[in-house]
Amino acid sequence: MSSILDERPALRKKVEDVAEVAGYLWQKGWAERNGGNITINITSNVDADMRQMPAISPVMDIGITLPELKGQYFYCKGTGKRMRDLARHPMANGSIIRILDDCKSYVIIADEAVQPTSELPSHLLVHNWFIKKHLPYRASLHTHPIELVAMSHHKPFLGKDVLSRLLWSMIPETKAFCPRGLGIVPYKLPSSNELAQATLEQLADYDVVMWEKHGVFAVDTDIISAFDQVDVLNKSAQIYVSARNMGFEPDGMTDEQMKEMSVAFHLPK
Ligand code: 13P
Ligand code: ZN
Repeated sequence: MSSILDERPALRKKVEDVAEVAGYLWQKGWAERNGGNITINITSNVDADMRQMPAISPVMDIGITLPELKGQYFYCKGTGKRMRDLARHPMANGSIIRILDDCKSYVIIADEAVQPTSELPSHLLVHNWFIKKHLPYRASLHTHPIELVAMSHHKPFLGKDVLSRLLWSMIPETKAFCPRGLGIVPYKLPSSNELAQATLEQLADYDVVMWEKHGVFAVDTDIISAFDQVDVLNKSAQIYVSARNMGFEPDGMTDEQMKEMSVAFHLPK
């Protein structure tokens, strides 16, 4: 079967990066069944032929109006699709959508009429904000990392920047590679507009946001970098859990050590 990726190496590379990350999510145990979703803005790879491609789905409502997304294109994981399948067959487990001129609806243009993820409101609201704020970010990732989600079940960890500080202090690289830390969104119904709105508010200060008792939502310039931010945070969470399992509360790096790190790596906070 022919694919929109044929003869489009730059677009193919971006979708292959999504497939690579989907494989990591499955291997890490963060993607049970259809858990998690990914969207990437691919508009910079859209050519004149793609703009002419007919819709292969009915017009579908996003549920919110997103003025910056007029005529933008996205690769989206399909709702109900498995990351482990997407890793091998990204175009059978996801699709490319075009946002219509009314800025509140979309159509699917390729390869198959795979319905986008149920978390589309959160993803698109955030992509709309990237463009509005002239941010270089083009990728968003939602996943269910085991240790981080477990930590979100403990109220004292959910205070502002409590988890950021704890996770940063477990190993120096975490602050270096996730310098804005972890924001917190109190529990909201999955796929709801309320969850989307609360996520957006946190992204003003953080690149990775915890959805209490559910998962994380991460953004970056590309999908590999978004994955890396979650990976370093969850590594710290695993170190914390390992120490607790050995029967002690880990000391964590001292405030002086953290400060020294921030100066040496020119970190913002
Ligand atoms: P989708 O299969 O619709 O992407 O949903 C997965 C998920 O993790 C919802 O939060
Ligand atoms: Zn989820």
